[in-house]
Amino acid sequence: MKVFVTGGSGYIGSHTVLQLLREGHEVTVLDNLSNSSEESLARIQELTGKEAGFIKGDILDAALLDRICSENRFDCCIHFAGLKAVGESVQKPWEYYNNNITGTLNLLKALSDHNMKNFIFSSSATVYGDPEVIPITEDCPKGVCTNPYGWTKSMIEQILMDMAKADKEWNIVILRYFNPIGADPSGRIGEDPTGIPNNLMPYVTQVAVGKLEKLGVFGDDYDTPDGTGVRDYIHVSDLADGHIKALKKITEKAGLCIYNLGTGNGVSVLELVHSFEKANGIKIPYVIKDRRPGDIAACYADASKAEAELGWKAEHDIVDMCRDSWRWQSSNPEGYRS
Ligand code: NAD
Ligand code: WQD
Repeated sequence: MKVFVTGGSGYIGSHTVLQLLREGHEVTVLDNLSNSSEESLARIQELTGKEAGFIKGDILDAALLDRICSENRFDCCIHFAGLKAVGESVQKPWEYYNNNITGTLNLLKALSDHNMKNFIFSSSATVYGDPEVIPITEDCPKGVCTNPYGWTKSMIEQILMDMAKADKEWNIVILRYFNPIGADPSGRIGEDPTGIPNNLMPYVTQVAVGKLEKLGVFGDDYDTPDGTGVRDYIHVSDLADGHIKALKKITEKAGLCIYNLGTGNGVSVLELVHSFEKANGIKIPYVIKDRRPGDIAACYADASKAEAELGWKAEHDIVDMCRDSWRWQSSNPEGYRS
């Protein structure tokens, strides 16, 4: 298939582009490089011997999107492009709503105008808010998000549902990711956050590589087995595979479908730290800190719908995730900048 990938040089996008090329699809990436480097695409070419087309550009540029869509016949668009830093979204809500929502509206308009109505969207478990029941199924009602970033995902989902309802030609797969970590086992591509990482795994790997002194564990008094927050960490390569399966679903012309992409296993902060230490033989010094505002105690997926309907199931365990995260970080201490 000919696939248009927005945000394709970023963390999840690059792993998906790698998988798409390996599966023989043709890929065009659009990215403004605001949070990524073209180097990821160069390394994908080195790994696959195949080249993804690259356009440096912005989803806020409606004229550019129209031009791209008039010059190409894409079988599907996978839309990763967006701003994703939770804390920053609280400081800069307008920028987040504008970039993520206006950008997505522009993209949907260009695709629709050129009659290319197959769409896969990167959503997030954050749309469930503080879930009433775990494991979380897709039927669990969407909740109150604790930050503008989360609301952009929730609102875009609503926009997609309304569009699919109004126009039956749309085929849309909404993928709600849980907590992606890990890297391609080659160690050549991975997550490359700018500044001090907000998320747990990149923080742990930067402690391991000596860039940060110790990890702060945000709270040990949650109602969880060891008191620290529980999440459903999923290997980014499994997540990438989920998109390949979603592409197949698109060809079934099933209208709008929503899937959780998680492993179904809850892992606490301290369990992740200890798994990392064991997998890589490196001690991670940590200190218990106050809870982080907006965090929930526990969140993990019921991923059975994706297995039943997409034939997708996460294959990698937490040890694989810790090992692959470390291979990437240790061989690229400065990320793509080195
Ligand atoms: P990322 O920042 O690595 O990738 C996003 C890419 O989008 C970047 O390459 C960035 O340069 C690009 N981009 C941002 N705004 C753009 C714009 N206006 N025009 C063109 N390109 C733009 O993030 P990621 O972790 O790979 O996330 C990919 C998608 O998955 C995002 O939509 C994110 O919200 C979603 N998501 C991520 C997580 C996670 O924990 N990483 C979890 C759930 C959902
Ligand atoms: C995981 C656990 C923290 C850092 C976020 C977004 C979510 C989604 C995924 C995009 C929590 C604890 C963390 C640290 C810690 N992104 N922690 N010390 O918060 O589950 O989800 O990323 O859609 O929307 O909110 O992920 O990696 O930040 O935290 O103790 O330095 O690790 O409290 O329990 P989170 P995270």
